[in-house]
This record gives sequence, structure tokens and C-alpha cells, in this order.
Amino acid sequence: MPPSPKHDRRIHPGSGRRRGPDHPKGRQVDPAALAEVQALLRDRERRRDLLIEHLHLLQDHFGCLHARHLTALAEEMRLALVEVYEVASFYAHFDIVMDGEPPPPRITVRVCDSLSCELAGAAQLLADLEIRLGDGVRVVRGPCMGGCHRAPVLAIGHSLHEHATVDNVSAAIAAGETHPSVPEFVGLHSYRTAGGYHLLDACLVGERDREELIEILEHSGLRGLGGAGFPTGRKWRLVRQEPAPRLMAVNGDEGEPGTFKDRHFLETDPHRFLEGMLIAAWAVEATEVYVYLRDEYPQCQAILESEIAAVEATGLAPHTRIHLRRGAGAYICGEESAMLESIEGKRGLPRQRPPFPAQVGLFGRPTLCNNIETLYWVRDIVEKGADWFTGQGRNGRKGLRTFSVSGRVRDPGVKLAPAGITARELIDEFCGGVADGHVFKGYLPGGASGGILPAAMADIPLDFGTLEPEGCLIGSAAVVVLSDQDDMKAVALNLLRFFEDESCGQCTPCRAGTEKAVKLMTMPHWDEPLLQELTQVMSDASICGLGQAAMNPVKLALKHFREDLLTPGIAPHPNPLPASEERAGPALAGGEGRTRTKGASHDRAHLLLPRRRRGFGRAG
Ligand SMILES: Cc1cc2nc3c(=O)[nH]c(=O)nc-3n(C[C@H](O)[C@H](O)[C@H](O)COP(=O)(O)O)c2cc1C
Ligand code: SF4
Ligand code: FES
Repeated sequence: MPPSPKHDRRIHPGSGRRRGPDHPKGRQVDPAALAEVQALLRDRERRRDLLIEHLHLLQDHFGCLHARHLTALAEEMRLALVEVYEVASFYAHFDIVMDGEPPPPRITVRVCDSLSCELAGAAQLLADLEIRLGDGVRVVRGPCMGGCHRAPVLAIGHSLHEHATVDNVSAAIAAGETHPSVPEFVGLHSYRTAGGYHLLDACLVGERDREELIEILEHSGLRGLGGAGFPTGRKWRLVRQEPAPRLMAVNGDEGEPGTFKDRHFLETDPHRFLEGMLIAAWAVEATEVYVYLRDEYPQCQAILESEIAAVEATGLAPHTRIHLRRGAGAYICGEESAMLESIEGKRGLPRQRPPFPAQVGLFGRPTLCNNIETLYWVRDIVEKGADWFTGQGRNGRKGLRTFSVSGRVRDPGVKLAPAGITARELIDEFCGGVADGHVFKGYLPGGASGGILPAAMADIPLDFGTLEPEGCLIGSAAVVVLSDQDDMKAVALNLLRFFEDESCGQCTPCRAGTEKAVKLMTMPHWDEPLLQELTQVMSDASICGLGQAAMNPVKLALKHFREDLLTPGIAPHPNPLPASEERAGPALAGGEGRTRTKGASHDRAHLLLPRRRRGFGRAG
């Protein structure tokens, strides 16, 4: 049979002799879906950078992202469909449902499987909940939710549930507790009555000088408390030197496992942070401020929404415009350039540097990026003086440090302590000692990326610069205490699984390296030379800090906990899979994504891949 003119390869495509397609190309917009999208968006702007906000509207309203709505949203926002899909599929809190697939159950329970929760029995809890909660509820794994001191933790819908047990979770679901409860905090009136916003007022009326404020911060030695520790005064000065218009982005992503200090400050004294933020915006003359808050903190979102509105209504922010942006479940968006991408409505892929955000940041403009806690300290330091801050400290170090302590201690929580305190002093003086029945064996001095040290090295002052000689970092000062009951091989594996899940997948050393490392670490005996080679490549060639630091737990376990490496028999995965989902085999199961669902309809092959690699149109 001769080929039809349409498929006849002898006819040149550009000759004009071929028939056009007999049906429209691409996915067509369903008018009903378009009407639904328009009704939800109402008069909201259709700007590109609002894509993630609009996806949240759909996800919250329909409980998922139906393919027909994504097509309609792309049409409504004048975006290519692929752009909408690649963003929607990058973030863990969005559920894409293709045509003909049933939506996920209305309630999702995300069980934290990061280290402090795993120490508190999260794996068993997850397995028990899968059995107890039945088909109407979807139970999935999730990364650290900032409640490590009250482990195990999970989220029921949008409600954070701490000290979780099967019974209290079942009861909470039966009572419909799926929305965040907002804690008591210092409101605008009380904050102002106690002297709050006087400093900002003085700045705005010209009684304070920008240069003078930057100098105070420089003398105080305040360093970025998001983890990298860049001197704050110097950063403000660098941004100020760049041409206007300048912008500001506040990092409230707080995803480092073990860290919950920003949450604490937002939940207790949000205006101290907001005043610091508004002073910073005044100092660098930022015309717009974007506050990026992780989706796991909906109670903080509610606080910030109401308090930012109150601040604006009181006329305290005449010099800048404040935008609140909601993350969507991606640890990598805490890396500042990935955060900027996410604020622009894109996937959180870290940018190559230079140029640095201070030069080319948000929307291409010079941008000041600061962590919530860094800004929280601005008012106190300026009002009380740099000497007040430097007068604190211990063991030769200066300043104050907010430690998030969890794991095997009697009294975990947020501990405001002198910079330079040692882990032993922190545990004994601030945390009531090691938990009953446990013997101190080791600790993470700086969250998942900061490495692991043995108890014999618990007398090192904890501060920026003191841990580097040991191959560790203080980072966001998340201290996780480990005991004789903890297997360091399993601890390191838990941390590597986190990095594997959270790698954005953009560069090969990190994408392939974390997956390979997890596979090697689930073997009865670690292949040390291969792991060391991987460590070298990943730290030398990864684009951002995630890949560069991911192998720290492995390096330190090999150095300090060799006896634990001799014990074989780590389970392929801490969370046993139900029989129906076991087909991935042990090697893949180790990297299986956190969005795995219970129902057969969601038991699709792509869900068995690490989360970020599920993204449509991914790079690398
Ligand atoms: C993988 C990765 C994750 C990060 N996560 C956070 C975070 O959750 N919050 C944060 O403030 N900084 C985080 N940082 C550090 C930021 O990139 C940046 O240094 C910081 O927001 C700057 O503010 P600061 O100088 O006030 O600390 C992360 C860095 C990396 C490499
Ligand atoms: S190092 Fe990892 S997280 Fe960072 S850009 Fe590369 S793949 Fe992404
Ligand atoms: S909330 Fe589970 S480890 Fe942080």
C-alpha cells in the first residue's frame, strides 16, 4: 500500500504538499476546566512568578492538580504547558493526576522519616499507620518538618502533629484536625508597647544613618544564621554598592534536618524578625521584599499574613512592598539561588555562581538574601550595641547561638546559648543531660550536612570556623545527639537517603552520586575506596552545597565509627513497603521517593524514583 501523503517521507515537510494534521496538536483546553481555573484565580495577576502560588490554589481546592486544570492554567497564564508541568512535578506537595486516574484520598499524612524522627520510631509508626488508617487516607514519607524536638512528627493535611502515636493520629483524623493551629505569640500591640519598632521609626525619619547601622552589625560579628555564616554587615554593604533598584529575599525555608529555630522565632516573636527585615530593606534601599516560607509551616504562614497586614496598615513599611511566598516541599529551595528561582515561579534549581545574588539576584536585580534568625537579631544588636553581642560567648568565641537540639537528650528544644559552647556543655547545662538509659556516643554538630563526631570530641567549641578542621560544619546549629543504641551506619544512611531524595537532579555528581552512595551503603559491607572516590567527585564537582556536603556523614562515619561499619544487616529501607509495592527490589527501594502512595492507582513506576527525578522536563 502506498504511504498516505501525510506520512510519505518522500514529500519534504516544508514543501507545502503535505496535509495539515486532522486534529489540533497538543493537549486542548477544556472550557469547563478553564472556567474553574478562572473562578479560582479571580482577579489575581497572571504573572509568571505567581505560578507556584496559583498551583497552590488548585492543589488546596481540588486536593490535587488535574491535568485538565494544568492545561487551563497554562492557557490562562500564557505559559507553555511544559513550563507548568515541570514546575508542578518538581515540588513534593503538588500531586499531578492525569486524565482517567482517580485523585488521591482527601487526607494525606506525611510521616517524617528524617533522623530525629527515625530515632523516635518513625519507621514503625509509618508501617502501623498504613495498616490502621485504611484506604481513605494516604500515608507517605516526608522530610524533616521542624518538630524534631517533639519526634516523631507528621503532618495531617496541613496540620503539624507532634509526639505522634497511632492512637492520637487516628483520633485527630476522626476529629477533622487537618488545619494548622496558630500558637500564642507577641502581637503588634504588645511588641510596640515594649519598645518595638522605635528603631525602625528612627531609621525611617532619618534619625539613624545607614552607614552607622552597617558598622554596628560589622562590629558585632553577626554572621548569616541560615548556615553559610557570611558576615551580615558586609553583605548589606555589598548589596548597597550595587545599582538600584535592589530587592530583598528572606529565607524561611528551614529544611535542614534537625533545625527548628526559625519556626520558634516566628511562632513566638514574629515582629522582632519583621522589624529586622524592614530595617534591612531600609538599609539597602530594597523596594520589594519577598519572604519565602516553607510549606511545612502553615501556622507561621498564618502569623505572617496577619502581622504583615497589620504592619502595613500601621504605616510601618512605607519604604518597601512585602510579598509572602509559599514553598511547596523542596529542601533545595533553602539554597539561596534555588530560593530565588522558586520565588520567580520556577523549579528550585541552584544557579551557577558567580554572579552572586548580591549582584544578580531576583528578577536579575541585586538582592539581599538573609535568613529569618539573622534578621531577628538586628534590633537587639543595634539597640544594645555591638559590645552586648560580642560580650557573650564561651571558650574564646563571641556572640549568641540558637541551637536546635534533638535526639537522645532529656530536654530537647531551642536553646539560646553562648557561641562556642561545647556539645557536652550544651547537653549537660541546657538539655538536662543525656536521655535516661542512653550513653552519649556521638552527635551531629550542624544538621544533616554538618558531619558526625564521636562523644570523645564533644569538647570542641561550637561556632563558625571551629569544626572545619575536623571536616564538620556548624551550619544552622542543629545538634542531634546520638547514643550507644544508635548504629552510625544506619544514621549515615538515613542522612544520605535524605540527600538522595532532595537532590534537585541538575548536576550529575550529586544526582548520580547520592543514589550510588545509598546503594553502596545498603550493602552488608561498605566499599570504602568507591565511597571515598564518590566523596571526592561530589565535593569537587557539584554545583551547590547540597552535593558538596552530602558525603560528610559518610566521611565522618568512616573516620570515627569504624566499629559500627563492621555490623552488617541494615534493612534495605527503614520503612517497610507493603507487599503490593515491593516490586522495585531492595536497591531501588532505598531511593524510593517520599511521595509514594498507598493506593494502587498511585503505585506508578515513576513514583518509585527519587522525588526530584520525577520532574517533567528535568535538567541534567
Ligand atoms: C543545600 C542548602 C540548603 C540551605 N537551606 C537553607 C535554609 O533552609 N534556610 C536558610 O536561611 N539558609 C539556607 N541555606 C543557606 C543559604 O544558601 C544562604 O546562605 C542564606 O539564606 C543567607 O542568609 P544568611 O546570610 O542570613 O544566613 C542553605 C544552603 C544550602 C547549600
Ligand atoms: S549539587 Fe545537587 S542539589 Fe545542588 S545543583 Fe547539583 S544536583 Fe542540584
Ligand atoms: S521533624 Fe522529623 S527529624 Fe525534624
